Amino acid sequence: MILKFPETFAFGTSTSACQVETPFQHDWVNVKARDGHIFDRTTDHEEKLDEDIENIRSLAPNYRMGLMWSRLQREPFGPFDRSACQHYHYLLERLRLQGVRIMMVLHHFANPLWFARLGGWENPSNIPMFLDFARKVVNEFGAYVMSWNTFNEPNLYAGMGWIAGEFPPFKKNLFTATRVVRNLAGAHEEIYTYIKHRFPQHAVGISHNCTLFTAENFLGYLPAKVVDWCYMEYPVSLFKSLDFFGMSYYAKIAHDPFPITNIFTPEKIRKSGKPHDDMWEYYPQGLRECMERYWKQFEKPIIITENGICTSDDTKRIQALKDYLSIVHKAIEDGIPVEGYYHWSAWDNFEWSLGPSYQFGLYGIDRLTNTRFKKQSADFYSKIAYGKALVV
Ligand code: BGC
Repeated sequence: MILKFPETFAFGTSTSACQVETPFQHDWVNVKARDGHIFDRTTDHEEKLDEDIENIRSLAPNYRMGLMWSRLQREPFGPFDRSACQHYHYLLERLRLQGVRIMMVLHHFANPLWFARLGGWENPSNIPMFLDFARKVVNEFGAYVMSWNTFNEPNLYAGMGWIAGEFPPFKKNLFTATRVVRNLAGAHEEIYTYIKHRFPQHAVGISHNCTLFTAENFLGYLPAKVVDWCYMEYPVSLFKSLDFFGMSYYAKIAHDPFPITNIFTPEKIRKSGKPHDDMWEYYPQGLRECMERYWKQFEKPIIITENGICTSDDTKRIQALKDYLSIVHKAIEDGIPVEGYYHWSAWDNFEWSLGPSYQFGLYGIDRLTNTRFKKQSADFYSKIAYGKALVV
């Protein structure tokens, strides 16, 4: 059977600057990841631009990416570094010439050290510094862009940085986390208005991380409900101006009452017999449940800004693409306006606090030499992305 997607459907891939470029004075530099790697080198993207541009083009006609704030702006309200600008102009111009359309992400977890030292997102008086950066990006690079994510996953960012203590600044304080989300939402509204003023035709949204929180037993019922409200309901309710509902989806997390994942409780997940990837329980149907939930709630067109599977077994990645894209196709048939799908990730990169051995890429990276190699899933996805059809 052939599942045909609408002609206007946008297939793409996604990366984030700090996960693929060599770290430069940002708040992840030298963080020790769970797999033992130090965040001092990622994939040398800036040295392999031509090759990566060709790989990006080969995968899909759309690309979701970001720029490294710390490289572009060396001090609060400072002018953009010209050589960093030239570098990004080269990248964006080449992608344009290759016919690749850009979804630009303005903030994807990392901040310049100078911003972090001033209290980062905890401090509302720092917001104008980010707004200054964002406005400069819009003016310098906006002409290359088709659509925007102001913030990548405000819920996950605040949760990991200020509740779980897994991301910089490694804190555990629910009240500060709430303040952070409010500051992000305040900044979002300002940038939304600015982009609309400069490029009225550009679509602007965020990427909200969707996770299905369920109860494994009676004891898990309340924790799952509370986490769902704190993570899935409250943060996103603060973002008022959205042209589309951007969402990422990777996982279901059951509670017993504690969260069950392959990262922290691998024996439990194995015992449960449920399918899982290297990080979480694998439950593709959850994507449908989340699309339905937010379509009902926001009534905005949906774009899947990130989706993928953490595995070094590429046959599982191909199966995941089939599972997830069938679900997206069915959702469109059932009347949910899904307009795009960006696969995470174009190539294996540095998976934040877990490290580079956690792999999501359609292209692989040899860790010693940083040479790229194509996985079978790359060809599989590219055929779908350019043919706008999935054979099942
Ligand atoms: C993040 C990515 C990350 C991916 C896989 C998303 O939440 O935006 O940066 O690599 O999940 O964990």
